[in-house]
Amino acid sequence: MVFQKPLLFARELVSRSLETGCCAVDATCGNGHDTVFLAELVGRDGSVLAFDIQPQAIAATRQRLAVNGLLERVRVVEASHAEMAAYSQTAFDAVMFNLGYLPHGDHAIVTEPESTVAALHFATKQLSKGGVITILVYTGHEGGREEWEKVREFSSVLPQQLFTVLEYRLINQKNNSPFLLAITRL
Ligand SMILES: C[S@@+](CC[C@H](N)C(=O)[O-])C[C@H]1O[C@@H](n2cnc3c(N)ncnc32)[C@H](O)[C@@H]1O
Repeated sequence: MVFQKPLLFARELVSRSLETGCCAVDATCGNGHDTVFLAELVGRDGSVLAFDIQPQAIAATRQRLAVNGLLERVRVVEASHAEMAAYSQTAFDAVMFNLGYLPHGDHAIVTEPESTVAALHFATKQLSKGGVITILVYTGHEGGREEWEKVREFSSVLPQQLFTVLEYRLINQKNNSPFLLAITRL
């Protein structure tokens, strides 16, 4: 028996929610790993919307998609995920957040509580039945713990007749390893 790392468990939950033709969002596309993962799952008939505020992340994501022949099914947007409503009003089958800073990038540019919660608010509103939102949370950097508190505050009061919220973490890991919050719509 092996317990999956939170990132892999997030991917497992997302892969259970997505099939060909679905619509997914990568709320923090960074270097594009999750965007490629989502684009493969939704297939030719599906679509992915990917957000990041850093031009470097947008370029890296487009490049990774191009290499994998997936660019045409993804809209990569240089904007905050807090502005998600301006880019789509359709239902989302899966939304992935990977909080914190861009690996190998500027560690001072991090996701912020206010915009993260604004994006979560819209994502939960748009989530289809059976859909899932995954949020990979890091608390080791400055502001990370405060962001986690706001995310938890928002998620823990979602009405239980509409949503189920899961917290998944390996509690004996060193160095503030990331953990997962996942929201599904009933
Ligand atoms: C941990 S990285 C994401 C890693 C990414 N999922 C991957 O597969 O490579 C977090 C990203 O969130 C981005 N970010 C920070 N604030 C944001 C915001 N308001 N809207 C969208 N992206 C944001 C950062 O620029 C950074 O690239």
